[in-house]
Amino acid sequence: VDLGACSPTGPRVACGWNGIDESTCRGMRCCYTPGPDSIGGIRFGLPTCYKANGGDGSYEVAGGALQKGDGPITGTGNLTLGTNGTMPFLGVDISPLGFQAESVDQGILRVKIGAPGRWEVPQNKLFTNTVRGSTDGSPLLELKYSASPFGFAVVRTDGRKGFPLFNTAGSRLVFKDQYIEISSAIPANATLYGLGENAPSTGLVLRRDGIPYALWTRDQAPNVPNVNDYGAHPFIMDVRPGGEAHGVLLMNSNGMDVVLTPTMMQFRTTGGILDLYFLAGPTPMAVLNQLTSIIGRPFMPPYWTLGLMQSKVGYMTIGYCDEVVTNYSRAHIPLETFITDGQYADGYMDFTLSDGYPLKDFRSFVDKLHAKGQRWAPIINPQIHIRPGYSAYDTGIAESVFIKDISGKPYVGQLWPGAVHFPDFWNDTTRRWWTNQLQAFHHELPFDGLWIDMNEASNFCTGDVCYDTGMAGPATDFICKMDCHKGPFAANGAPNVPPEGIFNPPYTINNNLTQVNITVKTIAPTARYLDGELEYNKHSLYGLSTVIATSNALNSMISKRPFILTRSTFLGSGAYAAHWTGNAFIGADICGFQNIATEELCARWAAAGAWQPFSRNHHSTGFQEFYLRPTIRSLAQKAFAWRLRALPYHYTAFFDAHAFGCSVMRPLFFSFPADSATSHIHLQWMLGDAIMVAPILDQGVVSSSAYLPSGVWYDLYNHTAIDASAGGLNTTVQASLADNPPVFVLGGNIVPLGPQGTNTTTALRAGNLTLLVAFPSASSPKFERCGQRCGSQNGYGNRVACGHMYLDQGDEMDVGTAQNNYLAFEAREVTHSGVGTQGSFVVYWPGPPGSAGTGGCTANVTWPTLDTVTVLGVGPVDLASVTIMDIGPQ
Ligand code: GLC
Repeated sequence: VDLGACSPTGPRVACGWNGIDESTCRGMRCCYTPGPDSIGGIRFGLPTCYKANGGDGSYEVAGGALQKGDGPITGTGNLTLGTNGTMPFLGVDISPLGFQAESVDQGILRVKIGAPGRWEVPQNKLFTNTVRGSTDGSPLLELKYSASPFGFAVVRTDGRKGFPLFNTAGSRLVFKDQYIEISSAIPANATLYGLGENAPSTGLVLRRDGIPYALWTRDQAPNVPNVNDYGAHPFIMDVRPGGEAHGVLLMNSNGMDVVLTPTMMQFRTTGGILDLYFLAGPTPMAVLNQLTSIIGRPFMPPYWTLGLMQSKVGYMTIGYCDEVVTNYSRAHIPLETFITDGQYADGYMDFTLSDGYPLKDFRSFVDKLHAKGQRWAPIINPQIHIRPGYSAYDTGIAESVFIKDISGKPYVGQLWPGAVHFPDFWNDTTRRWWTNQLQAFHHELPFDGLWIDMNEASNFCTGDVCYDTGMAGPATDFICKMDCHKGPFAANGAPNVPPEGIFNPPYTINNNLTQVNITVKTIAPTARYLDGELEYNKHSLYGLSTVIATSNALNSMISKRPFILTRSTFLGSGAYAAHWTGNAFIGADICGFQNIATEELCARWAAAGAWQPFSRNHHSTGFQEFYLRPTIRSLAQKAFAWRLRALPYHYTAFFDAHAFGCSVMRPLFFSFPADSATSHIHLQWMLGDAIMVAPILDQGVVSSSAYLPSGVWYDLYNHTAIDASAGGLNTTVQASLADNPPVFVLGGNIVPLGPQGTNTTTALRAGNLTLLVAFPSASSPKFERCGQRCGSQNGYGNRVACGHMYLDQGDEMDVGTAQNNYLAFEAREVTHSGVGTQGSFVVYWPGPPGSAGTGGCTANVTWPTLDTVTVLGVGPVDLASVTIMDIGPQ
């Protein structure tokens, strides 16, 4: 055995059996590497005895050189395999391969390696709201390559030395039908983030221990670290010392493993092609801007969706729901939206109503909510129960909208209602059928948004179990039958690989960290979509396909911006939907889904959850509505009153994300990439450019330590300042259980706030504005902002604060553009002749439409009235020295 080929971090394909001893294993010419068998306390299942993964997989460039293309194409050519193949047990090496590298725009270099006829992520169908950047200006990234053996590196063009961003030299390229491997050397001091959806035991930063991260969407709550959860996001942000960031995106939807070690980043995917995008950054927010230019900018949510939401498993009657809403209002906790979980439906069947929710009462509940400016959204699962006489089923069968099994019949799985079929949301007929179902339901109960759950696609039976075709008629009860999806294929769906290889791929991804079969908790990879495509390729896109179909449906039905909440996500889902834990519009179930938090911790959670983009109290078995316990009630009152007040600012952060692709909720290193002390911080976050939240998260304490990066930080509530301009510092934040959570405003910003004491976003928007002007110190360093919205930083004086506000009607389809729906504010310390250096400053405020300086606001919006300007960081102020000016034409 060539032990050199026994890399413990290489692909491990099991040899022998569980518990095999070393000498027997080696006697079988296999590798033997016992190692830790758990990480973060979680067991994982990499085989100890595995096949040697040798072979250098050396391809070479046919003809000795790539062709240099014109314009943005930087190189094309064919790669042919040299004499050395790799790992025959993983299939035959494919040769030749096509190679293409192009500068997509100045900051994005795309490298594609593939072969004709292979599955590729259909980007034009999935990604809208994409932005084509300019190819003007010289590209920031450059491709270097060697022809034999073939290898390439991506480097910055500005001549900066140091590690390339990506460099395959010294590693092999493996390209087989069901196993593709590419690796890059990376420096040990790079900090890596990404690879959602997964909760690494290392927190914010990715593990580098060589244990593969699997990407394969899966009905798995994020309560277990290191395992693949609901979403699949093959994207890594790589931040090098000094804070320079770039991104690596592998546009591939097949089940894959990503292996990170101190020296290597390796992608192993089980199909498709290598379609790599390298994003130049150089800041983390620039990386996100580049990423979302490809996969779509986050959608602009309707204003009302930023209000508090409540849902729960187990509200058995509409009367009870009504009580919950009433109790919130009695407790003066501003509940905006009520979300109904599955109990409203008859036997969990979509578009039906259970006995506890009679239509008449349900309708008056919804009407009452609407009359008070509140909203309602129900849960919908994509799976359709098999039951003749049930309209969604009957019409679905008649119109052939379901994914098919190997025999060509609608695939049968199991969910809450029992036996179910899975609609194929890629198909136009299915989309029309889905729109019709939603429309009919909306006609009865005018919902304001939809919560799409279980769309991984979740299946309570393993994919190798299926409906017993021997039963007479369609099943309403589920009878499991093993192994019936393995094959053979129907003649009209002849596969290009044996079905066994689809069902049991030669390389086993680290699904659930235990290498369980990819069929577990979902449908069989041999299932076929209506266009003949395999679930094997499309699996991780199912959730995305459900939200695209639903978003299209809602767009055509209600001429308002749709709100969709989705559980399963892929790259680009944020352009259509919000998500509970995991993209731009996200948040956890406040107070937790599975267990009941203590009164104290639920109160703390409410306080923290009020400062997350998506804010919903949601739970399964017990009761944790905020009004039930006094400590929670009073803290939630305060925290959600503040959430409402801050919405003009928060909504604007959403618009910035929509316009520039940055996130709303940001880890600290996004704002302060050069400050390495921020790189691991995950229990504090920035909300937009200006606000930092440092919640208290432990039982029995009223204070905790928080890190303040360099700058001046003002307490949001009492305005006291901590000047950390000389360098970041640790401080103690305090909040009793009666206090709002610690929230800071960063000097250099102006935060628009709404009025106090409103209960809904509608009332809030009708009220007057306050501008909170937070000055930096003269020595405050720069921090990263989303986009380039702030005016010149070198006005008349030393110190400038700026901010802005996006305005629209809150839910119109046509989201305004930066120029016409946007107010910019700036405050400058005035030091020119004749005016004192302290306490004299000008606040610029754009006047209403029609007046000078509005930049031509065309939107039909209610113009806010400015009634208060609070200025922080200027010492005692002589009111006469404050000038508030309309910005003249500039
Ligand atoms: C799933 C969802 C959860 C929902 C439940 C019942 O577990 O993750 O949020 O409440 O289904 O519909």
